[in-house]
Amino acid sequence: MQICRSTGEIRDLSREWRRAGQAVALVPTMGALHAGHMSLVARAREWVDAQGGGRVVTSIFVNPTQFGPNEDLDRYPRDEEGDRRKLAQAGCDAVFLPRVEDIYRPGAQTHVEVEGLGRMLMGRLRPGHFRGVATVVTKLFNIVQPDAAAFGEKDYQQLTLIRRMVADLDIPVQILPVPTMREDDGLAMSSRNQRLTEADRAAAPVLPRALAAAQEMAATGVTTAAMRARIRGIIASEPRATIRSIDIRDADDLTRVTKLARPAVILLAVAFGDVLLIDQRVVRP
Ligand code: PAF
Repeated sequence: MQICRSTGEIRDLSREWRRAGQAVALVPTMGALHAGHMSLVARAREWVDAQGGGRVVTSIFVNPTQFGPNEDLDRYPRDEEGDRRKLAQAGCDAVFLPRVEDIYRPGAQTHVEVEGLGRMLMGRLRPGHFRGVATVVTKLFNIVQPDAAAFGEKDYQQLTLIRRMVADLDIPVQILPVPTMREDDGLAMSSRNQRLTEADRAAAPVLPRALAAAQEMAATGVTTAAMRARIRGIIASEPRATIRSIDIRDADDLTRVTKLARPAVILLAVAFGDVLLIDQRVVRP
């Protein structure tokens, strides 16, 4: 596996591969890799193989612009050596490890903002977060110039926003959505799970339990208000959970829905101590 630290190195490598007729798929990450990230790498590999062969690049960059002033940038887990080992084992061809100053150069004045999708839901809880995500993903696409890029469904709003951005800006990158990987007790895999206390870790599977109950209700044709009340009741029965938001939105464009006529996505943001967990599930009427 090749290690590229500069933007020039990864751009030249990717260009060389594409000139040789190989497809390139990118997996953008912030490191602290777990099995969920590895499923993105596997999906990227499957995609390039289906194109007749190609290369998988993973970027590891803890992007400061998507963290708010009171968020956990300094405490975000970092494990470059472990990450590199896992990526090599997974058959990743190159890892791109830029420094902050390589991505954000002095004097920069340009950013990317997906206005509607970026300001709703988590965008309201974390102002500026999605502007940071959209900007860094655009930069990574311009640097690596991949044919496709894999994103997890766990960050459903992020995935929806990136699809919108790619369509709006005619970015020639195919977006590959990847289903959420879960622990044995159903908890969605996330780098943040490492920061949960033992008691909070034991309490957190209340989220997938609430989502499973919602799927059962969806099949009975209930209103979204009734479904939200049921989800709230299940999560509130866990004293360690602090509900930040429960939203039920159209699965394609995240607009509000009151009746389940089409697939909808349930989006949860729930804090355990100072760790905010998110989870999601698409439910069908
Ligand atoms: O999902 C993430 O890990 C990040 O938001 C991303 C897409 C790598 C951008 O920094």
